[in-house]
Amino acid sequence: MKKQLKSKKYSVFEAPSLHDAKMRMKHDTNYLEYKLDDKYKNLGLHKTYMVKTYGCQGNIADSEKIKGIMEDMGYTEVFKEEESDVLFFNTCAIRENAENRIYGELGRLHPLKVNNPSMIIALCGCMPQEEVTVEKIKEKYPQVDIVFGTHNIYQIPKYLYETYDNKHRVVEVYSYEGDIVEGIPLKRDSKTKAWVDIMYGCDEFCTYCIVPYTRGRERSRNEKDIIKEVEDLVKKGYIEVTLLGQNVNAYGKDFKDKKYGFANLLEDLAKTGIPRIRYTTSHPRDLDTETMDVMAKYDNIMPHLHLPVQSCSNEILNKMNRKYTKEMYLEKVEYLRKVIPNISLTTDLIVAFPNESEEDFEETLDLVRKAKFEGAYTFIYSKRKGTPAATYDNQIDPFTAKRRLLTLNKLINDGFAYGNKRFENEVVEVLVEGYSENKEHLLCGYTKNNKLVNFEGSEELIGKLVNVKIIKAFTWHLRGELVD
Ligand code: 5AD
Ligand code: SF4
Repeated sequence: MKKQLKSKKYSVFEAPSLHDAKMRMKHDTNYLEYKLDDKYKNLGLHKTYMVKTYGCQGNIADSEKIKGIMEDMGYTEVFKEEESDVLFFNTCAIRENAENRIYGELGRLHPLKVNNPSMIIALCGCMPQEEVTVEKIKEKYPQVDIVFGTHNIYQIPKYLYETYDNKHRVVEVYSYEGDIVEGIPLKRDSKTKAWVDIMYGCDEFCTYCIVPYTRGRERSRNEKDIIKEVEDLVKKGYIEVTLLGQNVNAYGKDFKDKKYGFANLLEDLAKTGIPRIRYTTSHPRDLDTETMDVMAKYDNIMPHLHLPVQSCSNEILNKMNRKYTKEMYLEKVEYLRKVIPNISLTTDLIVAFPNESEEDFEETLDLVRKAKFEGAYTFIYSKRKGTPAATYDNQIDPFTAKRRLLTLNKLINDGFAYGNKRFENEVVEVLVEGYSENKEHLLCGYTKNNKLVNFEGSEELIGKLVNVKIIKAFTWHLRGELVD
């Protein structure tokens, strides 16, 4: 007979509600300070953990917090599921296929958990913020012991303690606007490149997107905390920071007592002397000329911008609630190219949004040609329960959606190749990351314009900035030679 997991009861401290998550109350953001309670110290002595991360950079940065908290309790990181005493799935809810992948992973782990019932599996990130996920986990996935969301990472010690102590499963997901928790220890994945959260949440409510419900209200970290974090990174020898937020251009809009926006922050961070600054993600409506001017003024702000356009038909943009038109987008691109002529632009695009006609799709292709994107993430629209677009008529059939995606991808790939080709015979600065995954004898790294370069060189160059002459451009990467 197939071995089964013993049933354990669930303690639901708080269940998610997409309806509550939609509310945007006017009260001020709570600033909390992380502190590990004495009773949780040493909880992880002689125990191991592993974190599996899915989705955007926001989740990658959150995973560094999870790891920091686990090490604060004495746990040791491992990289094999079967060796871990606590296994986290930091999940993404942006599209249905991202969620299906997680359910597949959980199913695959069932036998591991049956053979090792003391192992703890925790599901966190964006998926648990949806009611349907929590219901499904409770009903069909007894292998999951702890469920928490995006707002309560700092409570991990409490959840582990509860699980060990009371031998029950814990669910706690907050569906409010969210706090800012400073002082969470970080275990960064890299010694040269760092993610730096500058704000959390999103108030845009694009009609297809689940993020404003899963990540709460837009709230900005105090600039002093961010500047201090980057100054510390400079002291530790970090070379690159990427500033993170769902809509970084809205940074500071929630400050009531001061006028200090994204352009101010970018300028203050450029002055810290960190060699490279990037940021993501931008919203075209909120990208202002001040920000573009600061980008142009400082050599350490990289000439690459990811500026998601999503669609380029004004009618669809309106239905998406993007609050700009194709013309407005192109105006910003034109200004960017005027002040930073060498800039590389990339974007996100969604095809087959409800009601998208062939003409609408042609508009998208037209803008892609005009904006000269050098890369893009392209997606088929995915219906997300709880979002307005999920109720729209005229959902597009999968066959048409696929055809549009393939057509769009072809054009995007041409842009990718063009973006690489323009660097042939040029000498570019590369931040060396390590050995190339496909060609192990070659080093790889990224240029200021965020182009991947492979070249021959010795191990001590890893983590350094070097000059490389580009000898050949391919669609997805550049081949170069080290310059003395
Ligand atoms: N379907 C398809 N793509 C989506 N995105 C967000 N929500 C959806 C959805 N429901 C895309 C957008 C966004 C990127 C992170 O994911 O392009 O910029
Ligand atoms: Fe989603 Fe729009 Fe917010 Fe981006 S700006 S996270 S697409 S709602």
